Order: sequence, then structure tokens, then C-alpha cells
Amino acid sequence: MAPPAQPGAQGGRGSKGPPARKLLCMCSLSLCLTYLCYSLMGGTGPGALRSPAGLRGFPAPSALRGSPAPSALRSPAGLRGSPAPSALRSPAGLRGSSATPAPPTRASNASRPGVSAAAWLRTALAPGEVIAAQSGAFERDPQESSTTDEELSRAGSTTPDYGEKRLPQALIIGVKKGGTRALLEAIRAHPDVRAVGVEPHFFDRNYEKGLEWYRNVMPKTLDGQITMEKTPSYFVTNEAPKRIHSMAKDTKLIVVVRNPVTRAISDYTQTLSKKPEIPTFEVLAFKNRTLGLIDASWSAIRIGIYALHLENWLQYFPLSQILFVSGERLIIDPAGEMAKVQDFLGLKRIVTEKHFYFNKTKGFPCLKKPEDSSAPRCLGKSKGRTHPKIDPDVIHRLRKFYKPFNVMFYQMTGQDFQWEQEESDK
Ligand code: A3P
Repeated sequence: MAPPAQPGAQGGRGSKGPPARKLLCMCSLSLCLTYLCYSLMGGTGPGALRSPAGLRGFPAPSALRGSPAPSALRSPAGLRGSPAPSALRSPAGLRGSSATPAPPTRASNASRPGVSAAAWLRTALAPGEVIAAQSGAFERDPQESSTTDEELSRAGSTTPDYGEKRLPQALIIGVKKGGTRALLEAIRAHPDVRAVGVEPHFFDRNYEKGLEWYRNVMPKTLDGQITMEKTPSYFVTNEAPKRIHSMAKDTKLIVVVRNPVTRAISDYTQTLSKKPEIPTFEVLAFKNRTLGLIDASWSAIRIGIYALHLENWLQYFPLSQILFVSGERLIIDPAGEMAKVQDFLGLKRIVTEKHFYFNKTKGFPCLKKPEDSSAPRCLGKSKGRTHPKIDPDVIHRLRKFYKPFNVMFYQMTGQDFQWEQEESDK
């Protein structure tokens, strides 16, 4: 069954003729101007408007806007100078050695705002912030390592003795703390889906192990069943789109997105649970709090600049191959979001409201019948944590910081996630 168009995306890429594109362009430009004014008035200061030498690591806006200059497009945000942690984890030789030599050009049905997120980030960041972003200091905290080699080999060996192991046809690529575990557990309840429970991290940390290793991590499937895995860090891994494309260019990609401010707090809460001695969120969020300079090099903040990361994916995959699931709706209407997921995967809508119940103690929807059990089950303690109370002024500043990127993300996806309308964060 061919997947239907994404709900809410009708006004998006597929239907954009030249006038619509012009409109989008004008929209982006006016937003950009608004943001420039905000920068002038709101504390990022005139320095943010200059084009400092430190910006050289960012692709030129023209390269991002016009016909692609692949090398510039593939190495955004200063990654060329000092590799991001994901690049550091992979052997240097691997970086340029994917099986597919040249990527496809930008997806033809993609809706492109007139100003790229990377260019926008240039404008939004003060010079000091740009330098921090270039220095590769994206990850101040260690990555959540939910998957050990032992878990992975167990994942591959405890599958039933029928069917065969196949490479995944669909991936949940992000975002961290978006609600990726909830989505994976829900889709696993579908009889035509088999998924790895742990995060293989193949396209970021384990790529050098090769596709056979990856295939072996997968569960066995019968013909007609879909193999899936989720590794949320893929969404922010520069090399991931190219690598996934070289595995199979028709791979379906799912991204669970959530208000980036709440996501950042959730990310911080997770780190805090493991390292109680870290500074407060308020301290980490700023390069200079007095000047109101947000530290966009802090991974908790940077991950939420969805438009920036999405640009990277759209160099390799058309928008129609990416489904954006609302992390907020996944909590208030899990069956509704699962209907979209099943349609996107070309599956019969089997996971419905009958599969969920709201658990008051947990405060979240839970599955009546998870894949591996007939007893109802909620997600574990690490999902749905209580967040620390964050200074409302800091939340306000973060909202302002993210707003233009969110708007750009809505334009790119053709979906309005309405994060600006949320009154308060948890
Ligand atoms: P919090 O712990 O901050 O509340 P991920 O699985 O990608 O790490 O995302 C974790 C987030 O999933 C949780 O963040 C929680 O808000 C959200 N979530 C969505 N549906 C959930 C569910 N049914 N049970 C628990 N958490 C859920």
C-alpha cells in the first residue's frame, strides 16, 4: 500500500509552484528581518549582525539556497574545522568513504525557505557563540549510552527461529527525548513490525562494523514484515543521512519532535539524573546570561534547532520519505499519531485506541499489550521524569531563541507544531 501524503503537509513541498515558493521566500525574509530586529533589541547585540570571521565554518547562505554545493552542504555548522563528537567516534577514514559516492541533489519536492537554518543560526548567534559551535563542543555531556555490545548481541540472538534477518526498511532517527521510546514500543505492538529493542547506533558510533554486523543485530522477519530500529542521535549526526541513503535510498524515516524548550529541559534532566553535580540548566543555557547570549553549542540546546538538522537530511531524502510525529500529540492522542505512523509505513491500522490506556500514576498513556507481553505496561522510570523548575525568564529567552527556527521548521515540513502557543513548560 502506498503511503498517503503526510497530514498537514498538503500545503508543503509537493504542491509548491513558483508563486508559492516566492511567498515562502518573502515570508522567510520578513521573519529574518524580524529576527534581526529582535537581535538588535533583545540582547544579542549588534555583534550578532556582523559577519565575523568565525562564521567561515558555516555554509554560505547562497550555497544553501541555490543549486547545492554538496561539500558545503554536507558539512554544516563548523563541523569541518573540528569534528563533532559523532565524527570523532568514527574512524577518520570512514567519513568520506560511504558506498554511494555522490548524494542526490536536494529533494525536488522540498519546500525550501528563502533563508537556510544554518544562515539563520549565523544571524542568531553572537560571535562568541559561533566560535563555540565551531570548536566541536556540541556535546558537553556524555551521550546517553543505552546500548552495550552485550545488549546488542543479545538483541540479535534472541529472535524467533523463523524468517530472516534483514536491514531495516524504516528508522526512528530522532529526536532524543522527543518520545522515541514510546513510539517504538507502540509500533512494535503491530504484528507486521519487528524492531530491535536497544539502540544499535550503527550510523553514528558503529558504522565501521559494517552492514553485516548491523543486519545481525536485527530481529528475524517474515516476508511482508517491516524491520525497524530507533537511534535518536541519528537526526543530529552529520554523516547519518548519507550513510542511510547508501544503505537504501528508500528507507523511511520517522522523527518525533517536541517543543525544543521542553526537550532541552528533558535532556538536561536526564543528564542531571546521572551526574547530579552538573551546573544548573540556567547556567548551562547561556554563554553570557547578562547579555542574554544563548549557548547554542550546548547539545541540549543545539539538538532542538530542528531546521538546521533537517536541512542535512533533505540533501539526501525527499520530504515525503520523512514522517514528523508530534511528541506532544503522542502523549495526548497516541492512537491518532499511530494512525499516521501506520499509514506512512504502509501498514494496516492495527494499533488503535484499543491498545492504549491512560495510567494516572504514571501520568502517561501505557500499552495494554506490549509486543513481548500480554500484561499492560508503562515505560520505565527514565521516561516521564519530573523536570526541575526552570527560571521563567530563561524559558522566555529560550522560546525567543527557538521561535525563528521553529517557524522555519514548520515551513520546511508543512506542519505547524504550535510550540509558540504553549503557555507553560513542564
Ligand atoms: P520526559 O522524561 O522529559 O517527560 P525518549 O524516549 O525519546 O527519550 O523521550 C522521552 C520522553 O517521552 C519523556 O520525556 C516523555 O515526556 C515522553 N513520552 C511520550 N509518551 C510517553 C509515554 N507513553 N510514557 C512515558 N513517556 C512518554
